[in-house]
Amino acid sequence: MRTQYCGELNSSHIGETVTLYGWVDRRRDHGGVIFLDVRDRSGIIQIVSDPQRTPESYSQADALRNEYVVKITGNVTRRPEESLNPRLPTGEVEIYAQKIQLLNPVRKQLPFQVSTAETDPVREELRLKYRYLDLRRERMARNLQLRHQVVKAMRRFLEDEAGFIEVETPILTRSTPEGARDYILPSRANPGEWFALPQSPQLFKQLLMVSSVDRYYQIARCFRDEDLRADRQPEFTQLDMEMSFMSLEEILDLNEQLVCYIFKTVKGIDLPRPFPRLTYAEAMKRYGSDKPDTRYGLELVDVSDVVKDCGFKVFREAVSHGGIVKILPIPGGNDVISNVRIKPGGDIFKEAAEAGAKGLAYIRVREDGEIDTIGAIKDNLSTEAKQEILSRTGAKTGDLLLFGAGDAATVNKTLDRLRQVMAKEFNLIEPDKIHLLWITDFPMFEWNGDEKRLEALHHPFTAPHPDDLEDLKTARAQAYDLVFNGFEVGGGSLRIYQRDIQQQVFDAIGLSPEEAHNKFGFLMEAFEYGTPPHGGIAYGLDRLVMLLAGEESIRDVIAFPKTQQARCLLTDAPSGVDVKQLKELHVASTFKPKS
Ligand code: AMO
Repeated sequence: MRTQYCGELNSSHIGETVTLYGWVDRRRDHGGVIFLDVRDRSGIIQIVSDPQRTPESYSQADALRNEYVVKITGNVTRRPEESLNPRLPTGEVEIYAQKIQLLNPVRKQLPFQVSTAETDPVREELRLKYRYLDLRRERMARNLQLRHQVVKAMRRFLEDEAGFIEVETPILTRSTPEGARDYILPSRANPGEWFALPQSPQLFKQLLMVSSVDRYYQIARCFRDEDLRADRQPEFTQLDMEMSFMSLEEILDLNEQLVCYIFKTVKGIDLPRPFPRLTYAEAMKRYGSDKPDTRYGLELVDVSDVVKDCGFKVFREAVSHGGIVKILPIPGGNDVISNVRIKPGGDIFKEAAEAGAKGLAYIRVREDGEIDTIGAIKDNLSTEAKQEILSRTGAKTGDLLLFGAGDAATVNKTLDRLRQVMAKEFNLIEPDKIHLLWITDFPMFEWNGDEKRLEALHHPFTAPHPDDLEDLKTARAQAYDLVFNGFEVGGGSLRIYQRDIQQQVFDAIGLSPEEAHNKFGFLMEAFEYGTPPHGGIAYGLDRLVMLLAGEESIRDVIAFPKTQQARCLLTDAPSGVDVKQLKELHVASTFKPKS
């Protein structure tokens, strides 16, 4: 019988005989005495086998190699003074092994060194192919534990403190309205018809409110076939919640309590409440982003009115065509950032171009009160305009001002990106700093230029702001996102529960009554039978854990993630299937590999 996990042992166990199970992390031979680091999911402990003191275990210890699976029984002793290891939780003790039993050796060469002591980076493809070995390593084992702790804290708070119940919703379902592509599955029993995997449990959780569940939550798997990034997976997990009879303020308050509970339980951190809030309009104005990283300043300044009649055509036309001109002021940027970097071919120009900018105008503030304008801006800005720019940006000698000019979306995207790049370059982000804030008052709709129609910014069940019912097209939504250090970790809204408003929203996004009926008829019908006012939110569990773990990719907090190409390297999925299987499903592939 195991008496402890390896990582649990400390000086309180000195003198005890313990039995442990684990993997050999490392084996060292020190002048005839063998030291084994033995690891399990909890950590590492040092085992000693000495031909003098523990002759019985010595021959077994001698035969062990890395990653062999062992059972060890021995005495806990205090390490000699010179080998105490304060960096290791078990570093005060070691075990003299009376008995070592080899349970299973390693029969193949390891694809990489699993040992915690190994610091060489391993290629991610290799880690993903042999994920079960990667998950033995300390960092990944710690991340899995952290994820578990976060989910546990969520459940404890929601169930024990706030009266939520967990309800599972179907995976085989109809298309849900989150705006990404669906993963679809053919139905054998219903030839020619398809299930869609849920992009979220949105419709079912609203139906559960109609069912009087009142407070629902689920740790829910969601599927979205979209372009992947470090914070996006095709299959990811949400903490999904919905509640009835609560106002927006009550929902945000309850969610702040939940988030504080998670931080306190998992990290021991007391977050200040209430969380700060920014409206969408303000966030876009000051940061060019609806998920701003507010751990540092570098706020954007709109100067469209100052330059709208100036001699520089690019600025003038940007404004006259309905666009904007904004500045990202970089304190101290003049001395550090060379012209080469801002001009075509330079790294900063490249960042701007990747965000869609066609050019990158700039001003260097070189002497007190005087500014040195470069390139086309030179001579094309009046002294008053220059002075107004200086005073509005608060720019001082040694600062650099980068301009974005064009349509608002591109300007904001460009300057948001440059703001993040500059924050890194100037080391403006204090490690361990945590900034959580709500973004509120999103617009109901955004313009889809490709399809030439409005589309719902969140989803079409989001309730409009009661003050904006006159003109829904420009209305604000009763929607909110939670932003954590520049990442959107959650989002939700109050929902529409009156049929006429729902119809108006469908009209606004160009969904005819027939289309609305085909897609969401079951929901509309349910809404006829006594629907309570309700609202909800969903958190991206993977993103939240990634940030709490200090990782840069959600792949590092998911046990078996997909690659950027949406493949599972471990099982080599997706894969081909038998023609027989396809026939049964009445499916044929039209794919023709390129010759
Ligand atoms: P939304 O689409 O904003 O809202 O999703 C909620 C949260 O899920 C996370 N997320 C993702 N995480 C990893 N990979 C992805 N591909 C991915 N997509 C989204 C984000 C996001 O904030 N039904 C609504 C919620 C509601 O209105 O209650 C919804 O799904 O952290």
